[in-house]
Amino acid sequence: MEKNMLFSQVKGLVHGGDYNPDQWLDRPDILAEDIRLMKKAGVNSATLGVFSWSAYEPVEGEFHFEWMEEIIEKLYQNGIYTILATPSGARPAWLDAAYPEAMRVDSQGLREHHGRRHNHCMSSPAFREKVSIIDRKLAERFGSHPGVLMYHISNELSGECYCPLCAKRFQEYLAEKFENDIEKLNHAWWTSFWSHHYNSFEQIEPPFQNGETSVMGLNLEWKRFTTWNMNDFMKHEISVLRSVTPDIPVTTNFMQLFEGLDYRKMAPELDAISWDNYPPFHNDGEPLAETLAETAFHHAVMRGLKRGKPFMMMESTPSLVNWHTFNKLKRPGVHMLSCMQAVACGSDTVQYFQWRKGRGSYEQYHGAVLDHIGTDDTRVFREVAEVGEAMRKLAPVAGTLVKARAALLFDWDNRYAIRDVRALADETKKYEDTCIGIWKQFLKLGVEMDVVGSDEDLSQYDLVIAPMLYMLQPGTAENLKRFVERGGQLMATYFTGYVDRDQLCFLGGFPGDGLAELFGIVSEEIDTYYPSDRNHICFEDGRAWEVTDYAEILQVKDAWVLARYAEDFYAGTAALTCREYGRGKAYYMAARVKPEEMESLFVQLLTEAKIPVRRLPDGVECHVRTGEEGTYAFYLNGNSGKVEIEGAEGMDLLTGTKIQGTFTLPGYGAAVLSQG
Ligand code: GLA
Ligand code: ZN
Repeated sequence: MEKNMLFSQVKGLVHGGDYNPDQWLDRPDILAEDIRLMKKAGVNSATLGVFSWSAYEPVEGEFHFEWMEEIIEKLYQNGIYTILATPSGARPAWLDAAYPEAMRVDSQGLREHHGRRHNHCMSSPAFREKVSIIDRKLAERFGSHPGVLMYHISNELSGECYCPLCAKRFQEYLAEKFENDIEKLNHAWWTSFWSHHYNSFEQIEPPFQNGETSVMGLNLEWKRFTTWNMNDFMKHEISVLRSVTPDIPVTTNFMQLFEGLDYRKMAPELDAISWDNYPPFHNDGEPLAETLAETAFHHAVMRGLKRGKPFMMMESTPSLVNWHTFNKLKRPGVHMLSCMQAVACGSDTVQYFQWRKGRGSYEQYHGAVLDHIGTDDTRVFREVAEVGEAMRKLAPVAGTLVKARAALLFDWDNRYAIRDVRALADETKKYEDTCIGIWKQFLKLGVEMDVVGSDEDLSQYDLVIAPMLYMLQPGTAENLKRFVERGGQLMATYFTGYVDRDQLCFLGGFPGDGLAELFGIVSEEIDTYYPSDRNHICFEDGRAWEVTDYAEILQVKDAWVLARYAEDFYAGTAALTCREYGRGKAYYMAARVKPEEMESLFVQLLTEAKIPVRRLPDGVECHVRTGEEGTYAFYLNGNSGKVEIEGAEGMDLLTGTKIQGTFTLPGYGAAVLSQG
């Protein structure tokens, strides 16, 4: 068995999803039908109890677990495992009535009313206490059931609270961070500006919208505190569960690039990373293959949160959602394609929200495996059953890993800092889009790229791309230097290394903290373009790339100039440079150019890194998973028409066909070639 298997009980991949039987307790016929149809759809797991608090504890202190016990047991008898959620995603009405402090205060200072979900004060001792009581009871009652695979903490943790309890915790967090020395904070936050000096930690308020929003350090620390406090809350739930059943793994479902929480700080607390994947397929702005490629980036971000372990796609829709701007149906075949993509990118699960559509309330029309019609003769059910069959055939893939030799650096702190910085142009900063665009271009060159933090170990990589790495964490510059020194190829771009972790500008030239030496350049100025402004970068061989949005003007100290600006007062100055450093090379790209246009540069970097380029037909992705027992190449066709793939080899696990050389992938088709 592969040593990276997520669960020892499930021999292959997990197929299932959120199941809410508490909405159907008065319909035993429906509950029985659910089990029959789950088996028919090849479902082997159900995520239970995500929002079941009021079913477990309808009034304070009165607990009912018998209904859940029956369901877990029945599922288990039918070969379906349970992923058991803690119910802290939404609070029962009695709880808010008795403990109003559990309700959040918004950024205007207004206490929310009872309602909705995901909106608790994470500092409230009363709320934490109530959560620990119910969590303990759940672990005691169900934790030793052989059907329970894993705990799922709460649901889609998110949001901020500005209540007095949170404000106080924020002050304590700051006091600890700045070693009880308010002058350290004043220095880090540069509070001599606009007379914003603080005399004590007690004077510091959260950045209320109608209060202090102009101290960048305060804004950033508030973001960090929000992650810290959410993490603390999550750890609180985990510790209760572990105190009863230490061996059951835990996860919580992340939301792709959700900005509000630094998932990299939360990941170490979890046994597996899981996330909810709802791509806007078939939108009117881009071809499906582009949406698919962007989704591959999201998978890579999640995979990067715990390298060396498969992740889980905890939620996805088998058909449509109810919250996109336009809730378009997934076209026939697209469901299979997106599920195969999840596995291709490193997920060992395909899970849905949800199994059966509820009759009423907010999500009654959200896609589910079973519609209100309730039968299995629907297109969606058939497609889900096909996925179930495919997942069964892909069992050998479980526990294998996607191994990348290239990485793109992507930091949450950097996101916060770039979002908040009063420079550039708000509309065109586009840090995330810039990272995604570059990453997708490498995917199109057949290159798998991890997405990792700037201060993480880079020793497994030969190529690192660092787009807009505006903020340098302590150690990042050294990390990058070491990487290049030992033979790595590095490319950084405009807006690199301006500030330290407190957002204080580096003195002595950007990129700071020693990176100017690595690249052999200093960035003297950055020009922000109006959307209609253009410049060009010209190479001696005649290549000319169009510049939009941003252009830095460089002083070249010790680097080759590979290309120069063609226009404006900085015409003729360096725009792309390269410096040999140790055994590797450090490239600096001083302006924004569309990633497609930079392809020749990317190919050059890959060649130097000795990473093979593989050109597949437009819209086709290839991802490879490897393990002790085999290598599996996933081919995914994001086009509605068929494509011919060349140079492929292996046994297609989905069809049982042996492939050697060229083969045809139908529109939206997928193949998984086992290469022994
Ligand atoms: C999220 C939530 C689910 C459900 C789905 C709908 O992922 O976790 O409870 O609301 O969205 O898309
Ligand atoms: Zn609060």
